[in-house]
Amino acid sequence: MSETVKLIVEGQEYEFPVITGTEGEKAIDISKLRDLTGHITLDIGFKNTGSTKSAITFLDGEEGILHHRGYSIEDLAEHASFLEVSYLLLYGKLPNATEYAEFQSAIREHTLANEGLEAMFKAFPTGSHPMGQLSSMVAALGLYYPKALNPHRSEEAINRTIIRLMAKMPTICAMIYKKRNGHPTVYPKNSLDYVANYLNMTFGQVTMPEYEPDPVLVSAMNKLLILHADHEQNCSASTVRVVGSSQSNLYSSISAGISALWGPLHGGANQEVLEMLEQIQNDGGDVQKWINKAKDKNDPFRLMGFGHRVYKNFDPRAKIIKKACDDVLAKLGVNDPVLEIAKQLEEAALTDPYFVERKLFPNVDFYSGIIYRAMGFPTDFFTVLFSMGRLPGWISQWQEMRKEKQPIARPRQIYTGETPRAYVHMKDRD
Ligand code: SDX
Repeated sequence: MSETVKLIVEGQEYEFPVITGTEGEKAIDISKLRDLTGHITLDIGFKNTGSTKSAITFLDGEEGILHHRGYSIEDLAEHASFLEVSYLLLYGKLPNATEYAEFQSAIREHTLANEGLEAMFKAFPTGSHPMGQLSSMVAALGLYYPKALNPHRSEEAINRTIIRLMAKMPTICAMIYKKRNGHPTVYPKNSLDYVANYLNMTFGQVTMPEYEPDPVLVSAMNKLLILHADHEQNCSASTVRVVGSSQSNLYSSISAGISALWGPLHGGANQEVLEMLEQIQNDGGDVQKWINKAKDKNDPFRLMGFGHRVYKNFDPRAKIIKKACDDVLAKLGVNDPVLEIAKQLEEAALTDPYFVERKLFPNVDFYSGIIYRAMGFPTDFFTVLFSMGRLPGWISQWQEMRKEKQPIARPRQIYTGETPRAYVHMKDRD
């Protein structure tokens, strides 16, 4: 006997089925609510609303658990490469050696970005935000593959588009970095693995063909990209699904996801964290003063990198990143004063009743910015790195939505505007 719930609407009782997930989560299926009762639900920000069933990522905010296709984020960050985790998200299983080699070789065939994309940099204002450039470049990439715009292509053709986008994302991200420094593009070196190739295109120089990325940075970057790879129905993944649900192509759906991630409340938080830490440092380093500002309802200041819509316990990714942060700074011999401020902030926030009562723990963005800065990335580039990590997650969410033939996303609303009124000609208006 399947579980149900009863709802009484205007004196009449209705019964709705309860859906139970494989990890025990429960949802009331209200697909028939409006037809049966004439009522809809209202849940601004979707804090209590599931938009889909999904088999990709499970997270438990209360317990601080994050799994991808059943594997814990701790195991994946410790033992897997980012490309392995990408394969897991995209195809539902960890690849065996043959599958991995084929995946890596398919990606290597497509790492070059069309030379025409270089011309776009002439149109971007100098110093313009890398996320605006990235969103534009990914949407433009789709224009080079007009067949990819057709939503009714074969699975094999769609998979080729997925491989192509996975392959070109690091190249485009590296181009954005190079062009903003006025440096020539460093082309992909397919003898390197996915992450080392990205670091080589970013920090290598055409005049230094012998450059080899530091293995510590390669390892830390692999871990960081894995920790950002997917996070179920967050703002940007939901955006990718909504755009894809209209049968818009993958490039446009991902470009929209990049734009959503740019927001300071979402992926843009890692940039905001560093700017906040530098602001506290430049203001004299009085951490408690800024904690008090974050608690003051009349002050718009929020402690960036703290709090999460789902994690009401420590973000498991933050724990892993914190360890990686210490390792990278120790290896690079970096003694970053803002790290000291970050640790004081974390200590103060984890003991202050305001943050403890609201379960506002450090999230993934709190430490990632410090590592990226130690690696030499400019602050406004951090969310580009988040986008590169999140790409396989976005694509796997888009694929799942497509393969399940989900309907176009079209929420309802409750109208609260003017009731009907007669048109008044301009000459008769007050
Ligand atoms: C990411 O969804 C994902 O999975 C996202 C992400 C992913 O991998 O995709 O994990 C990546 O986006 C992480 C979050 C990065 N954003 C930030 O660090 C920005 C700072 N954080 C906040 O803006 C906030 O915590 C959010 C946006 C993350 C979550 O906001 P909610 O769930 O809507 O919570 P809320 O705004 O309703 O706040 C609840 C209370 C409020 O106080 P009261 O009105 O109850 O008195 O907590 C307070 C808020 O004022 N609060 C904060 C705070 N975050 C919430 N107060 C001070 N500083 C903060 N950071």
